[in-house]
Amino acid sequence: MREMEVLTVNGGRELFGSVRIPGAKNSVLPIMAAAVLCRGTVTITDAPVLSDVRACIRILNRIGCAVSLCGTNIRITPPANPGSSIPHELMRSMRSSLFFLAPMLARTGRAEICMPGGCRLGARPIDMHLDGLAHMGAEITEKQDGSWLLRAENGLKGTEIGLRFPSVGATETLLMAACTAHGTTVLHNAAQEPEVVDLARFLQSAGAQISGVGTPELCITGTDFLFGTQYAVCPDRITAATVMCAVAGCGGEVLLTNIRCGDVQSITQLLERAGCSFVPLGKDAAVIASHGRPRAPGSWKTGVHPDFPTDAAPLAAAALLRAEGESAVTDSVFENRFACADGFCRMGAQAQVSGRTLRLNGVPELCGAHVTAPDLRGGAALVLAALQAQGTSVIAGTEHINRGYENIAALFSRLGASVTAAEKQQEVSGMAE
Ligand code: UD1
Repeated sequence: MREMEVLTVNGGRELFGSVRIPGAKNSVLPIMAAAVLCRGTVTITDAPVLSDVRACIRILNRIGCAVSLCGTNIRITPPANPGSSIPHELMRSMRSSLFFLAPMLARTGRAEICMPGGCRLGARPIDMHLDGLAHMGAEITEKQDGSWLLRAENGLKGTEIGLRFPSVGATETLLMAACTAHGTTVLHNAAQEPEVVDLARFLQSAGAQISGVGTPELCITGTDFLFGTQYAVCPDRITAATVMCAVAGCGGEVLLTNIRCGDVQSITQLLERAGCSFVPLGKDAAVIASHGRPRAPGSWKTGVHPDFPTDAAPLAAAALLRAEGESAVTDSVFENRFACADGFCRMGAQAQVSGRTLRLNGVPELCGAHVTAPDLRGGAALVLAALQAQGTSVIAGTEHINRGYENIAALFSRLGASVTAAEKQQEVSGMAE
């Protein structure tokens, strides 16, 4: 037997109040890894305090960095000679452990890693990261245990690289690798997600020479070293989407502050099609409101930025479970984005997955049920479904949700919902993973 955390949700209430959106998970994690490139202390402000951030701190400590976390500020001081290998168990704790590959290689001339962990959304290979680094002169040896040793003892070399798909992670790996490489790197078909832009702005603040930020073509001229800096991470657009979709599904009116309206445009457009109103207030606040059952918006699909973000797809699907009419969402980025459909159905929804598409036929009412979070955003989507359901739901597998939300129970409780987190004894063999 071991203690498991579960969330208990008593649903059926509208949401009212205000929420300040925290800093972005997908920005802070690569930025923390990029701090290893810097000679001097890096202070990151407005950092979200998530379990993935704590996992990142464990990796930083392991390779010799001094790290302090004070409120939402993280100070990282890399040593003169950082370590160059990450134990398998830390690599497997999250996908973002992969962000340490390029900084370790660039800084020490060597890096030893195994396949990273993360949500099971599909195959998620790392070939574009490895191929790009090989192009920059890294020698790569695959070891018998499936781990990789990368060496670039005389430093990485600038070159021209075209990505076959604008991968967020591969763009970030190669961006970090290029900052201190010899010569100029041109990266074609780069990802343009706001978190990639945020990493580039952080690197620029540490002395990196990068042009084309926010476009599909990045040009990076290597410098001898990066220095310490202070940087505030951008707001988390997926947390913003979580609150917006919750209001769309439950009804109510919520003020969001610290939101970049431009970054969530594809989400607001879909929710407006479903009958919600979204009113920007100045450049970093907005009000989302919804009354009555949403309208099904028909078919839609996810894509790379500025198209609808894959991470928000299960959240928007949860908002449409009670919509009048049928909708269908196709995820073009990952093969297995809608593992939450099973939990939706347990709550009485009509939801069916075929291939990469989730089809929904809106029902007037959902009912509370016992469900398990299959992954981070799928777990948050189940919370959104439970908030709309009549009666009590119990959501297990919250370790997935805690990777991306500081305290999802507190987030919704302050908007009038009844969500509590509690420890529960559970058979080890009955665990989610
Ligand atoms: C990042 C985000 C994740 C988001 C995703 C897409 C972080 C920490 N995570 O993940 O929340 O859902 O972007 O916006 O920022 N691929 C390959 N080979 C590679 C790399 C990727 O085939 O070397 C494929 C993946 O399997 C996937 C697609 O490319 O099908 C997109 O993945 P990618 O953009 O790299 O996502 P992540 O960086 O893993």
